[in-house]
Parts: sequence; structure tokens; C-alpha cells
Amino acid sequence: MLQPASVAQLMGGRKIARIVLEPEAIRARVREMGREIGAAYPEGDLLVLGLLKGSFIFLGDLVREIPRPLQVDFIVVSSYGSDTVSSGHVRLVYDPETGLEGKHILLVEDIIDSGRTLNRLVELLGARRPRSLAICALLDKQLAEGLQLKPRCLGFEAPHEFLVGYGLDHAEDFRHLPFVASLAE
Ligand code: IMP
Ligand code: MG
Repeated sequence: MLQPASVAQLMGGRKIARIVLEPEAIRARVREMGREIGAAYPEGDLLVLGLLKGSFIFLGDLVREIPRPLQVDFIVVSSYGSDTVSSGHVRLVYDPETGLEGKHILLVEDIIDSGRTLNRLVELLGARRPRSLAICALLDKQLAEGLQLKPRCLGFEAPHEFLVGYGLDHAEDFRHLPFVASLAE
């Protein structure tokens, strides 16, 4: 169990409203997801593609629970427009060096909100002729309408609050928290 004093020490004065996912719950679910992914890809080359930066901790834990050969790469996208509302105008800032053609691509995202970023990425990556393309997300706010690809694996449904920790940030803070919490106003 998390101790309030150690949580306060991590937060440096910012208050959280509540802890949404404890480290133990995340660990147990990520382990299950790793097993599910291993079973879902009985053969072929698997490339686990992390969408930076939010997925970095989740991806690091997840790939160590997938009991099969795989490769890891990352993509970095930049969205234009207002930074609070995702605009759907997405540009690849870092393009994976690993070829995608003929491989199973598992795109790993921290949290799905409007789904616009993912929709655009599915178009971009689908054009690279992968053998298959699927999405794995730690969290989903279940608000996305018209998502071209529903996540093939999902960790948890997310409450409709602003969440931080385990890779998720608020203005680049709080990514290092070992739990997911909602931020107090
Ligand atoms: P979408 O394109 O609206 O689905 O936006 C998804 C991206 O917005 C995620 O990859 C996160 O970087 C960010 N995001 C959405 N909701 C949250 C949240 O509650 N906390 C932190 N980041 C979030
Ligand atoms: Mg972010």
C-alpha cells in the first residue's frame, strides 16, 4: 500500500484528488496483458511500437511480460492546434527506423481520450503495409467516437478526470509516479 507521506514527497506540493490505480493493480494487469499478447501472436515478427512520451513506463513493463520474441521501437508525433484539445493534425517527428512491412505492429498508447491521435496514426502506419496493426492502451476514457481501430488490448477503463503518473504527465510533471492518480484542481 502507498503511504500518504511518500505520495506527498513525490508530488512536491501538488495535491492529488485520489489514487486511481495502485502499483500492485497495474503490475497484475500488465502481467495479464503480456500473456494475452503472447497468445494473440502465435507466429510472425512482432514489433511493439511505443507512442512517446506517455507510453514509456507502460511499454517498459509490458514488453517484459510478453513471452515471445519481439522488437521494440518508438514513434513521436506532434499535434498542431490547441494543446488542450487534440486537433487530429498529426505529424511524425520520429519515424521508426525499424521497417514495418510484413510485421505485426502493436501500437502502445498510454491513454485514449478523443482518439484523434490514434486514428491518424492508424492511417499513417497502415500505409506501410504491416502484416497486422493493433492498438494496446493502458487506459481508455471511452469517449472516442469513430475510432477506426478499437484497442485489441486494454488495461483499464479510465474515469473522466485528468490523470497523471505511470507515464502520464501534466505539463511534463508526474510521469515518474509509480501509480495513476487524478490531479486536484
Ligand atoms: P486523444 O488524441 O484525444 O485520444 O489524446 C490522447 C493523448 O492525450 C494521450 O496520449 C495523452 O498524452 C493525452 N491525454 C489524454 N487524457 C489525458 C489525461 O487524463 N492525462 C494525461 N494525458 C492525457
Ligand atoms: Mg501528454
